[in-house]
Amino acid sequence: MTMAEAIPSPRILMGPGPSSVSPRVLAAVGRAPVGYLDPELFELLDALRADLRTLFGTSNDFTFPLTGTGMAAMECCLCNLVEPGDNVVVGVQGFFGGRMVEICRRLGATVTTVCAEWGRVLEAEAFAEALQQVGKVKLVACVHAETSTGVCQPLDAIAQLAHAHDALFLVDMVTSLGGMAVNVDACGVDVAYSGTQKCLGAPPGLAPVTVSERAWQVASARHSPVSVWYFDWQLLRGYYDAPHTYHHTVPVNLLFGLQEALCEILEEGLAVRFERHQRVSDALIAGLQAMEVFPFAQEGYRLPTLNAVRVPEHIRDEVAVRRRLLQEFGIEIGGGLGELRGKIWRIGTMGASATHRNVVLLLSALQSVMRTSS
Ligand SMILES: Cc1ncc(COP(=O)(O)O)c(C=O)c1O
Repeated sequence: MTMAEAIPSPRILMGPGPSSVSPRVLAAVGRAPVGYLDPELFELLDALRADLRTLFGTSNDFTFPLTGTGMAAMECCLCNLVEPGDNVVVGVQGFFGGRMVEICRRLGATVTTVCAEWGRVLEAEAFAEALQQVGKVKLVACVHAETSTGVCQPLDAIAQLAHAHDALFLVDMVTSLGGMAVNVDACGVDVAYSGTQKCLGAPPGLAPVTVSERAWQVASARHSPVSVWYFDWQLLRGYYDAPHTYHHTVPVNLLFGLQEALCEILEEGLAVRFERHQRVSDALIAGLQAMEVFPFAQEGYRLPTLNAVRVPEHIRDEVAVRRRLLQEFGIEIGGGLGELRGKIWRIGTMGASATHRNVVLLLSALQSVMRTSS
């Protein structure tokens, strides 16, 4: 392969992420880098952090773009809060809830899981029961937008239960932030994180995090230092807040891209943007149903950002369908994860990818491929 051939072809990204990035954001990523202690970078970071607060719906001071992807943020938030021997309660209604459990176990926590069948929401009553049984719980955690199943988890009742038991509430908002309302403060979420490559419309590599004062106090009262130096909130805060002490070389070009993406989002307006995501998702689902491709997730709780649909029974090789969509039409969609491998397709309608044009292109391409696939 020559160097020229190694440049990937243009794609319409309608998988579970990353989503397509607008020319404006891409141009911003290409700006000349500045140093990680440049005063102008801190001006940009202050504005960017204020915009992230708006998106999260929070006044949390400690809101920042962590270097790394969504998994880095999951690991970072958990490793600051969870110490060996702590009781944590984790909701598992899909693949990413399972990852939270795995990380908490590695951190030495005693983990109680509250489970739902994949494709369904977690019930608040199950959290109430678990919290009753466990006794003193430090943290309750769950995923808001389960990318593996397309389910949107209601949060209010779980937040109330967590607080009634004096526990913190941590929520994964990787596939919701920027595509739908999240209302961190109103809902009572103490810690939330996301990723830039989904509904925010920026390239992968940064993970917005927000930490309430209450969570900050809990982390500050740890018995032992955070085991991962790179993710230690105290050290990270010393860089993002004054006195801006060197911590690591932040990826300034990704920060330029994220800042531009946030400007685009706020110019569009949050209400308009969320409505666009819903409208485009509805159009996609209507078109798919007309082709006898049916939604997977529980009705009434379907995400507007990630559409999980059942692979029709007559399709024996669903991987080949996705491969042909990519090779013949340049359109990426995702397959199932874990126990849903081979059973569902996951179609993202996120950020710049959430357009009617993309829906029409995908529907016609899929129809053409399915007509000639078995
Ligand atoms: C809900 C959820 N959490 C966490 C992650 C991990 O994010 P990343 O792949 O950016 O590390 C993903 C990625 O798809 C996700 O959908």
